[in-house]
Amino acid sequence: MANKYKLLFVCLGNICRSPAAEGVMQALVEKRGVAEQFEIDSAGTYSGHAGDLPDPRMRSAASRRGYNLVHRARPIRVEDFDRFDRIIVMDDYNYEAVHRLAPNRAAAMKIDRMTDFCRSHSDAHYVPDPYYEGHEGFEIVLDLLEDACEGLFEDCK
Ligand code: 4NP
Repeated sequence: MANKYKLLFVCLGNICRSPAAEGVMQALVEKRGVAEQFEIDSAGTYSGHAGDLPDPRMRSAASRRGYNLVHRARPIRVEDFDRFDRIIVMDDYNYEAVHRLAPNRAAAMKIDRMTDFCRSHSDAHYVPDPYYEGHEGFEIVLDLLEDACEGLFEDCK
């Protein structure tokens, strides 16, 4: 069997945006019947929430759209650059932090911004951190992630 296509989504805490991206992308590849061709994970640049489930506000917003988020937060590690084909970050802060961790040029080339895959939200330049926002912030994140995951899926073909 061909190697799996391995995607790692990264945000700051790995409890809001990136585990939601992981859940949305996992649901998408399952819906398209190609889940066995993908390995999808997420991580954070900050380790303070390691071991935690996604934020309850993110889990309930995601659950209302049919996504069950069960990821346990973990920090990104330098080994992830070997293990994953693509590392997709949510904002410029994540981009800088992940770029600094990249061990070489080839590793740095694996980093992409999530919003670069948006099609409906083509004016979005980052997925905003919802942690200190209200309910609407989580809905905006999910809107952006659903749009970007469709574009990313096409880009993985
Ligand atoms: P995330 O959101 O990066 O989308 O997981 C945040 C989670 C936690 C914190 C900040 C952002 N924090 O400051 O603890």
